[in-house]
Amino acid sequence: MKPRHEILILDFGSQYTQLIARRIRESRVYCQIVPFNVSLDAVRQRPLSGVVLSGGPMSVLHPDSPVCDPGVFELGVPVLGICYGLQLTAQLLGGEVRQGTCREYGRAAIRRVGPSPLLDGVPEETVVWMSHGDDVRRLPPGFQVAAVSNQAVAAAEHPDRRWYGLQFHPEVAHTREGTRILRNFLFTICGCRRSWSLASFAGEQVRRIRNQVGDGQVICALSGGVDSTVAATLVHQAVGRQQRCLFVDNGLLRQAEFTAVLERYRQLALNVVPVDAARRFLDALAGVADPEAKRKIIGQLFIEVFEAEARKLGRVDFLVQGTLYPDVIESVSVRGPSAVIKSHHNVGGLPDRMNLKLIEPLRELFKDEVRRLGRRLGIPDTFIQRQPFPGPGLAVRHLGPVTPEGLDILRRADGIVLDEIRAAGLYTKLWQSFAVLLPVRSVGVMGDERTYEYTVAVRAVKSEDGMTADWVRLPYAVLERISTRIVNEVHGVNRVVYDISAKPPSTIEWE
Ligand code: XMP
Repeated sequence: MKPRHEILILDFGSQYTQLIARRIRESRVYCQIVPFNVSLDAVRQRPLSGVVLSGGPMSVLHPDSPVCDPGVFELGVPVLGICYGLQLTAQLLGGEVRQGTCREYGRAAIRRVGPSPLLDGVPEETVVWMSHGDDVRRLPPGFQVAAVSNQAVAAAEHPDRRWYGLQFHPEVAHTREGTRILRNFLFTICGCRRSWSLASFAGEQVRRIRNQVGDGQVICALSGGVDSTVAATLVHQAVGRQQRCLFVDNGLLRQAEFTAVLERYRQLALNVVPVDAARRFLDALAGVADPEAKRKIIGQLFIEVFEAEARKLGRVDFLVQGTLYPDVIESVSVRGPSAVIKSHHNVGGLPDRMNLKLIEPLRELFKDEVRRLGRRLGIPDTFIQRQPFPGPGLAVRHLGPVTPEGLDILRRADGIVLDEIRAAGLYTKLWQSFAVLLPVRSVGVMGDERTYEYTVAVRAVKSEDGMTADWVRLPYAVLERISTRIVNEVHGVNRVVYDISAKPPSTIEWE
């Protein structure tokens, strides 16, 4: 069943575009982000209730700035322009935008002038989040001002045509009445109903997968992470044992992780084929110090191992991938629909090589939606709340050439970090927490003995999406326990340091 109401967001490249989509979906209205230059013929096929024009980093006055087909204003549904979207609306419909005279960045106060369905229920004065250099100098014919800031037009509308514009960002949490304004647009102006939910989404996906697969055979690569687990579980609900899942031990997982995760997959009744390829990966990595070379070797070998194991299973028609919505739109956005779409789980290239059709049941969801869906599907929190773990695993946390001895030291130290982080009740509050083995030996003293042993770095970061991150101010007591335990319990380590670098300029992983 198609959702009956859909909001289309034309993306002009704002860092907040995804946030608009999330806010709309939180209101239980389905929405899609499409590139600003989407063909209107494609758009007309959709059950549209309204269009949002996003913000963007360019100036509409720049000759190369992105412009959508002006036909979006003639689709017969309401249009809401946000920031760049408002300025583009002004420019396309006969108003005037002026350059850089009144830059407003950050919090700003706005004042309403007269009634407006978009601002219904918003106090006379309120605080919003602005981020613009240009502003609307003259509104197009038929438009009226609905709110102003000290500097500029803050909200404008053409009520008869149901065209609206906001200079500020209603999707950002700092805009106090942002949710109310967006909901006014969705429910009062566009007439949407709260028809979208994860339950309806799951049911629809299960039906769709069943139709797509028919009596075909499906294969899935499980990584132990939340995305592939949720994708596989959804496919399992649709086609049961027609799906087989490969779970590869590349020898670079955390302490005791492979067996523990395998057991949990079995409890989920997934049809899992374990593949022990640890030796092959460690042999291939022997003597390799360069981080990118390590990644390439691991990625390539994964494909080889996966392909060989998949062929052993006989006929396979479909490959399940846990691609998420941010992966899809990150690559389409303002660079246009032809840009390459990133694929997940290190199986890029496989669909072509093995002539497989893709099943990507999560490609419309955000990470937090995947987690909620996972819970609905009965997947335990050990999967749902698992911190992200990089595909190349401990290889990028064991600096320099990977050795079995080094991996053993790293696993034990890392196990202690996780133990203590969990004991302190912090595991689910952190984006990632882990140990790194440095190729540095230093002098210490234990008992009466002089030691000359390795150093372990501890990393704990907070992050929204992994793109930026800050180091966590861990309590000294936790750091102390981690340090004491590592030096006492892990043979070969006599020094522990804490990484206090943010990203940027550092990265989360050390390699
Ligand atoms: P960096 O180190 O770039 O990491 O700040 C950002 C996030 O991405 C993860 N990461 C990877 N994940 N393959 C992956 O699947 C990789 O090669 C890789 N490198 C980094 C990292 O753990 C963090 O969450």
